[in-house]
Amino acid sequence: MSFLGIDLGTSGIRALLIDEHGAPIGSAERHYNVSNPQPGWSEQDPADWVSALEDAIAELQSQFPAFADLKGIGVAGHMHGATLLDASGKVLRPCILWNDVRSELEAAQLDNMDQIRALSGNIVFPGFTAPKLAWVRNNEPEIFAKINKVLLPAAFLNHYLTDDFVADMSDSAGTAWLDVSKRDWSNDLLDAGHMRPNQMPRLVEGSERAGTLRADLARKWGVGRDVAVAGGAGDNAAAACGIGALSEGSGFVSLGTSGVILVARNSYAAAPDAAVHTFCHAVPEHWYQMGVMLSATDSLNWLSRITGKSPADLTGTLGTEVQSPGAVRFLPYLSGERTPHNDSQIRGGFTGLSTGTTTEDLTRAVLEGVAFGLRDSFDALRSTGVNIQSLLAIGGGSASIYWLKLIATVLDTPLLVPSGREFGAALGAAKLGLLAATGRPVSDVLTPPDISETIVPVAGLIATMKDKCKRFRNAYPSLRQIQ
Ligand code: XUL
Repeated sequence: MSFLGIDLGTSGIRALLIDEHGAPIGSAERHYNVSNPQPGWSEQDPADWVSALEDAIAELQSQFPAFADLKGIGVAGHMHGATLLDASGKVLRPCILWNDVRSELEAAQLDNMDQIRALSGNIVFPGFTAPKLAWVRNNEPEIFAKINKVLLPAAFLNHYLTDDFVADMSDSAGTAWLDVSKRDWSNDLLDAGHMRPNQMPRLVEGSERAGTLRADLARKWGVGRDVAVAGGAGDNAAAACGIGALSEGSGFVSLGTSGVILVARNSYAAAPDAAVHTFCHAVPEHWYQMGVMLSATDSLNWLSRITGKSPADLTGTLGTEVQSPGAVRFLPYLSGERTPHNDSQIRGGFTGLSTGTTTEDLTRAVLEGVAFGLRDSFDALRSTGVNIQSLLAIGGGSASIYWLKLIATVLDTPLLVPSGREFGAALGAAKLGLLAATGRPVSDVLTPPDISETIVPVAGLIATMKDKCKRFRNAYPSLRQIQ
């Protein structure tokens, strides 16, 4: 038996095949672009997701005989994106993505309405789906009038796979239309956003069976006729499933395009004023909270672009011994910030530059700026009362041991490095597919990985980092003032 996890990411799609024990068999990736038609806008053509998926599947099908024995599929997607379909199922406009901030005004208007935070459990961030639809209503009324269904990116692929309109609660929690405590669409929230319940997909738990793979796709892919498709998940919930972070206080720090600190919660305990996200988990009766910074590896990638050196070259020159922060400081707000500032207008900055500043100084400052930004999210999470003993380190940026040691020291918390390479959203999604197909108990399948290394804080630097973190925090209001 084999199971497929599809991670529909911002820069590309990853399709991972696992066996019935959750062990990876093989994977394929395809990339696509984000278009930025105006500053602060970020869009993708859903047709690109489908062709990337089909190409990746063709590779798995030809490379791995186990693909023919496919029994279940789970999809994880970048969250909050608005894919709008008309009554014939046609996509009405490019998907507006999670890091698009055009709907800042609409978000603030919704956020100020009575009961919105109480019902949705969250600030209405400009990246969420409801303000995007309010923007479409205000600016593209002819499109708004034709909307028959609004699908998040993962739900769009669920629709492609099953022909049904079906989404899971972990992803749907990021719309600001879901009553996150009741795990159901809220008529009040939909009303506030001028949306109708029949424009929403049916809801299932992420680990539940959402449907069956379309017969024509099953034929084309050379698989059996009863392949289960799971509800799936938002990418962060899926990543948490992949590392078995389900119970209170277990979680990860993820260094991807965005930087996320996520902790699982056994019950619903919203804390919108702390600017953390409180969402349903992808398994029943669990929730999670996370702090999100918008530019984590994106900050390093930006430095890489302007210096012409690869991110690995930049971090490689730093060695592995964490140094005390120097004179150069970096504020990582290249695309604005969510936790803790909810400020989509703020932009990044360097301070402390001199004629002697080197590329190495800039690199260290960028890594430190991201680490301090993560500390902001960490403190916001801890203010909700959750106890965090350690965190798993995942995401592309976790390949840098220097960065991990720095973050462990700034958070004053050990970071656990999973052994093996496969610990992203694709693994969690594949395991959700396995659960949906087999009905096995969640606790048997969503298990923590083996740990290859524990990165402990550098004792001699904890106090210095605390002090630097305070200064970092104080820099935000003055940056705000001069911009
Ligand atoms: C979470 C968020 C991002 C995207 C990135 O709220 O917006 O982490 O899911 O993929």
